[in-house]
This record gives sequence, structure tokens and C-alpha cells, in this order.
Amino acid sequence: MATAVITGGTDGIGRALATAYLERGHHVLVVGTDPAKGAAFRADAHRRGAGERARFLAADLSLVAENRRLVDHVAEHHPAVDLLVLGARYHRSTRAETADGLESNFALFYLSRHLLSHGLLPQLRRAERPVVLNFGAAGLGGPVRWDDLQLRRDYPGTGALGHAGALCDLLATHLAHQHPDVPQVVNHPGVTATGFAGEYDPATAAHVHHLRTHAKPASEAVAQILPHLDAPPSPLTAVHEGRRVPTDTPAFDPAAAQRLHATTERLLAAL
Ligand SMILES: NC(=O)c1ccc[n+]([C@@H]2O[C@H](COP(=O)([O-])OP(=O)(O)OC[C@H]3O[C@@H](n4cnc5c(N)ncnc54)[C@H](OP(=O)(O)O)[C@@H]3O)[C@@H](O)[C@H]2O)c1
Repeated sequence: MATAVITGGTDGIGRALATAYLERGHHVLVVGTDPAKGAAFRADAHRRGAGERARFLAADLSLVAENRRLVDHVAEHHPAVDLLVLGARYHRSTRAETADGLESNFALFYLSRHLLSHGLLPQLRRAERPVVLNFGAAGLGGPVRWDDLQLRRDYPGTGALGHAGALCDLLATHLAHQHPDVPQVVNHPGVTATGFAGEYDPATAAHVHHLRTHAKPASEAVAQILPHLDAPPSPLTAVHEGRRVPTDTPAFDPAAAQRLHATTERLLAAL
């Protein structure tokens, strides 16, 4: 039976994807920080007659050690992973650092995804048709700040998510070039009514409140991405609101992807 591992699977689009894959008969492991949301996911799965296949792991993926714990957990319990969804995020209007001393978006939105997509390669390779879904910028993330990857100067607020998304585009590019047997799908879902996890200044909070009630539902975002996961047309696919977008652009430059990979490995070695 197929297995899906979904970070950010306790809320929003990740949660809707988790339900979709439970209904397809997968084993689904969702990861988040909130045990109450994990229990709600499992209770809903039970109601659907899929309680045996629904699992929750509480982990703070903004911490390097927690990502390594998740990799170990999956290696122990799931020999093969058919679908890895990288969807955890937490917005911050003001800059913050994790206990590892890393900028929080860089740590959760990018570095966690680097650690998980590399750490779970052995399990992905054991699946018949593996795929990784990375909620990146799909080319819409703007330029990478190579001299300030952790946004120490002029922290851009909401733009920090877009910057981390641009790093995820490069992460997927690097993986697709190095490991073409494990297809990477980068997805920007467009504005979607979700939990919008985070801490917001008053102006942004008012905007987010509006989006929570007026944006498209998570089920629509899921319907837009599922066909691309079922049949990824190439090792690297980028999708914006259900439509493929070109990957022969600077956002997916293999040399920049290699540069980011080398920089990340140096940073991890120094931690
Ligand atoms: N919604 C949109 O309009 C939109 C637009 C563009 C891109 N996206 C992207 O789509 C993806 C899904 O977004 P969403 O809006 O559906 O998310 P969401 O509803 O805000 O949910 C965020 C998820 O991340 C988890 N999370 C937060 N901090 C975490 C941490 N430290 N460790 C582990 N998990 C953590 C949360 O779990 P807990 O609450 O259990 O911690 C939750 O499951 C994200 O990558 C997002 O950037 C969304």
C-alpha cells in the first residue's frame, strides 16, 4: 500500500491533500506542531473508515534536529514513501530566529525541505512511482538575496515567504538534476483560504482575515495539483494554480541551484 508523508498536513492545503490521499487508500503521515490538529485529523480519518492508515507526528520542523528525527521516524516505520509533500510554513511579520540561530522562514520553509527531501531519498527510491511536492514560488519568488539568505537586513515581512519559496524552486531544481528518478513538482497554489499559520501585524492580520473567508477553498487547490502529481511529465515540473509554467528561467537555474546546495551544506556542517 502506498505511503504519503505530508508536512503541514494538519491544516490548509496539506490537510486537504492528506484527506484526498486517505481516500485513495494511502497510508498518510501528517506532521505539524499542534497535537490537537493531529488528533482532529485522526478522528476524521476514523469517521471515514481510514483510521488505521492515518498517522500524526508532532515535530517543530523549524529545528534541524526535529527534521532528522522525522527522517529517522519514517525510515523506521515506512520503508517506501510514494509521495512527500513539503508544505509547512509559518508567517512572521517581524524577523525571528530559531533556537538553532537561523531566520525562521529560512529554517522552516527552506532548510527543513532540504533536509527532508535529501534525507528521505532512500525511501522515495523504494516506491514504484515516487514524487515530491514542494510548495515553492514556481518562479514567482523574486530574486534570491545571495549576500543575505537569512534576511538580516530589511526584513521583508510577507516577502520572506516568497524569498524562501524562491530557495525551494532552486532546491527542487538541484534534486531534479541530481536525482531525476525522483520527480519534483514545485507548486504555487495561488491565494487559498487556509489556516494562514503565523504571527501578523494588524494591517496584515486584517488582510489575512479577508483571505480566510474569500479566497478559493483548499479543495480547489488540491484538485489543481493532483493531475501533476499523478503523472509528473519531467524530473522538474513547476505549476501555478494548476497550469505548468516554464522551468528554463533564472528561477530554476541549475548553476544557482548548485550554489545554494553547496552553501546549505556548508551551513549545516557548521551548525
Ligand atoms: N494559502 C495560500 O494562499 C498560499 C499561497 C501561496 C503558497 N502557499 C503555500 O502552500 C503551502 C500550504 O499552505 P497553507 O496556507 O495550506 O498552510 P496553513 O493552513 O497556514 O498551515 C500551515 C501548516 O504548517 C504547519 N506548521 C507551522 N509551523 C510548523 C513548524 N514549526 N513545524 C512543523 N509544522 C509547522 C502547521 O501545523 P501546526 O499548526 O500543527 O503547527 C500547518 O499544518 C505552504 O507552503 C504555503 O506557503 C499557500
